[in-house]
Amino acid sequence: MALREIVKFGEDILRKKCRDVTSFDEKLGILLDDMTETLQSADGVGLAAPQVGLLRRVVVIDVRDGKGTIELVNPVVVEQHGVQIGNEGCLSAPGEWCEVERPMKVTVKAFDRHGSEFTVKGEGLLARALCHELDHLEGILFIDRVKQDIPERAEARK
Ligand code: CO
Repeated sequence: MALREIVKFGEDILRKKCRDVTSFDEKLGILLDDMTETLQSADGVGLAAPQVGLLRRVVVIDVRDGKGTIELVNPVVVEQHGVQIGNEGCLSAPGEWCEVERPMKVTVKAFDRHGSEFTVKGEGLLARALCHELDHLEGILFIDRVKQDIPERAEARK
């Protein structure tokens, strides 16, 4: 395993759409291992392939719920319910936190590293992480999801 360098906001690659993974080979396994190691080393909750410089639909998530890292290849949201508003950050924007609205629950279909399809249901932080990381695959960043700050809300945060 090896640490990969995390791309920061401002780099073009974070604004591009990722391509599907078509071969579930050794190279994919190495990428997933490296992404997990990079995520852990950065003490993050999620990491998407474009953040390590690859336009591939690959994501790793670890919300520290004791269930370990979830590896998602070619993930798609198939269901979502409710709304949550909370602070969100990104390993590509260290120190930046914004209030972002996300679904409270999501169901995502994806493939594992061997090409087997599975479903993951996330609520709360896991739902937030799934949406944030899947956005990366479309070139969407969490700052795009921040609503225009209404004065009352800005006031309430002081
Ligand atoms: Co991010």
